[in-house]
Amino acid sequence: MIKGIIMAGGLGTRLYPTTKVVNKHLLPIFNKPLIFYPISVLLLSGVKNILIITKKEDYESFKKLLNDGSHLGIKISYKFQKKPGGIPEGIVLSEDFIGKDKFIFALGDNIFFGEKFSKILENIQNFKHGCVLFTSRVNDPKRFGILYKDKKNNLKKIVEKPKKPLNNLAVTGLYIYDHLAIKYAKTLKRSNRKEKEITDLNNIYIKKKKAKEIELGRSFSWLDAGTHEAFLTASNLISIYEKRTNAQIGCLEEIAYKKKLISKKEFNKVIKQIKETKLKNYLKNLL
Ligand code: DAU
Repeated sequence: MIKGIIMAGGLGTRLYPTTKVVNKHLLPIFNKPLIFYPISVLLLSGVKNILIITKKEDYESFKKLLNDGSHLGIKISYKFQKKPGGIPEGIVLSEDFIGKDKFIFALGDNIFFGEKFSKILENIQNFKHGCVLFTSRVNDPKRFGILYKDKKNNLKKIVEKPKKPLNNLAVTGLYIYDHLAIKYAKTLKRSNRKEKEITDLNNIYIKKKKAKEIELGRSFSWLDAGTHEAFLTASNLISIYEKRTNAQIGCLEEIAYKKKLISKKEFNKVIKQIKETKLKNYLKNLL
């Protein structure tokens, strides 16, 4: 069974002062905390065991919000990163959690939604070896890891935040790895920005010809909530989508019920615990 890891540490420097006392991943994107969106991606992929990597001082807040995940029919545990030394550190910290299993590695500030995404995610259960990268076209390639391919469309390499990008195919913050990622992550050196880079890990898989790319199409929304503007854009997009369709994005209780992670009885119990709000009415209407 595939496991899930979410990176929810970091300093949130670009979002200062909003992140001075609150962890970035607990800040709202429209009507729910940012972390709900990557959790929803894991639930839709069939993950039932999630490890959240965060800072020790934020543990109580995460625990208050998500507890051990039992209300969603899943298991959520926590591990602490002392200093934000880079994204792949999260994989090394998860060594015991991963064991010999495959895992989805999600950056806590990435939001995905769009048609057919649930179908793509369900197929993840068939993943066996190597790594899978999800890519998307962007208008600001200097902000991301950019994937280069040869003329035959074979993956060549990823360049992290290129000064002069040769294309705009960004690698998003959702990766699937086999357990060998732990071994490779341990060999990584710090980059110029004094961090271990997830791009360096992905380049190891590309070099070994063990990386596969899935490009997310145009009808798809992928957002990296790393700046104030991105928070606003994401909130606006989700609010418009939810108003138009009367359906929520990233509603964990709904996904847990529809994915049969919790029974109707348990779902009712969850609803009962929610105060009279729009969310309560929304969930009641699903019954
Ligand atoms: O969003 C996709 C991009 O994410 C990729 O295209 C890049 O290749 C990848 O390096 C990454 O770039 P960012 O500059 O956006 O990464 P950032 O430092 O913002 O960290 C992403 C998330 O990981 C964020 O939610 C905080 C968390 N994090 C980050 C670091 C460096 C940690 O939990 N611990 C860390 O040490």
